Amino acid sequence: MSLRFPILSRLPWYRLLVRPILFRFAPEPAQKIADKALAIQPLWRAYAKAANVPDIPVTVAGLALRNPVGLAAGLDKQCAYLDSLGNLGFGYVIGGTVTHNARPGNPKPRVLRLPQQSSLINALGFPSEGLHAAEARLRKLTDRPANVLVSIAALDEQETLECLTTLEPLVDGIEVNISSPNTAGLRKFQEPVALRGLLDILNAARTKPLFIKIPPYMNEAEHENVMSLVRACRDAGMTGITVMNTIPVEDARLAMGRGGLSGLAVREDMLRIVPEVRAEVGSEMVINACGGIATAEDARRALAVGANTVQIYTSMVYRGPGVVGEIVKGLAKRS
Ligand SMILES: Cc1cc2nc3c(=O)[nH]c(=O)nc-3n(C[C@H](O)[C@H](O)[C@H](O)COP(=O)(O)O)c2cc1C
Repeated sequence: MSLRFPILSRLPWYRLLVRPILFRFAPEPAQKIADKALAIQPLWRAYAKAANVPDIPVTVAGLALRNPVGLAAGLDKQCAYLDSLGNLGFGYVIGGTVTHNARPGNPKPRVLRLPQQSSLINALGFPSEGLHAAEARLRKLTDRPANVLVSIAALDEQETLECLTTLEPLVDGIEVNISSPNTAGLRKFQEPVALRGLLDILNAARTKPLFIKIPPYMNEAEHENVMSLVRACRDAGMTGITVMNTIPVEDARLAMGRGGLSGLAVREDMLRIVPEVRAEVGSEMVINACGGIATAEDARRALAVGANTVQIYTSMVYRGPGVVGEIVKGLAKRS
């Protein structure tokens, strides 16, 4: 069987076979099916051997990563499949976003595919089983083929602090999500004074790398505001910034009437914003580029304009698990 795996891993089996089946289902049921596959841990251990993704060792924020390609927050919200996802070849994987209390999220439908643009719109609004469910799963996570970080939601200072102090001992670093466009309470920390207050509280408690995930900006007023958030992160001594969350858009097909755009449709915006954030923070802070990355060339462009690592989500949906190895192998050829 193992002899056959290399051949299987070279076939575009996801695009030819798996994606057409998954895309017959609405996005959320399709994700549930994918989750069932991710739950079969031995499958992904065998996959890792066959895929043979090369190492491109990098040290980022003091973390020795296998490579600079990370799984973006949101795909494994409940931290249930981080071992399987690590076996796809990622340098690091981010679980969550975890909220302090369990929440159902927004009404459905709340995810749309835009196949012509290899993009998605989501208005999930943080469906979460809550902090203690994530804590229990991370405690049991013994097989860690990639570094593990967790994304926590900034909805309230004390709750965010409790998420950090509970989960930080179980992971290599924390990403704080202040930027989901689908969650009303999150806007509170898109104001620099409120954000600085939160960061000072978290900073006093943290012992590991702390990243802040910022929203994109689409006009001059938003640019000013996001840059003031970036400066608050820099002045508060954050480890780094993840650029960026989804772009808010309206779409009547969603129950909420609006959501966040991701995938190819946002790639050029990410490539516009990363160098501007780099210019603002200087060379010391880490920047994780996230938005529409689907190929090694996309990743190389993001790294060339100032990112230290890249993160992917939507390209996993369109290109399947093999996209991770493709990106890393492509980067390895050029490094
Ligand atoms: C269905 C879906 C759910 C997401 N959930 C989260 C989340 O819980 N927390 C978060 O910080 N970002 C979340 N994101 C945003 C992604 O992490 C990422 O910032 C965005 O999708 C852009 O990257 P991409 O184009 O590679 O997908 C979500 C994105 C999608 C498509």
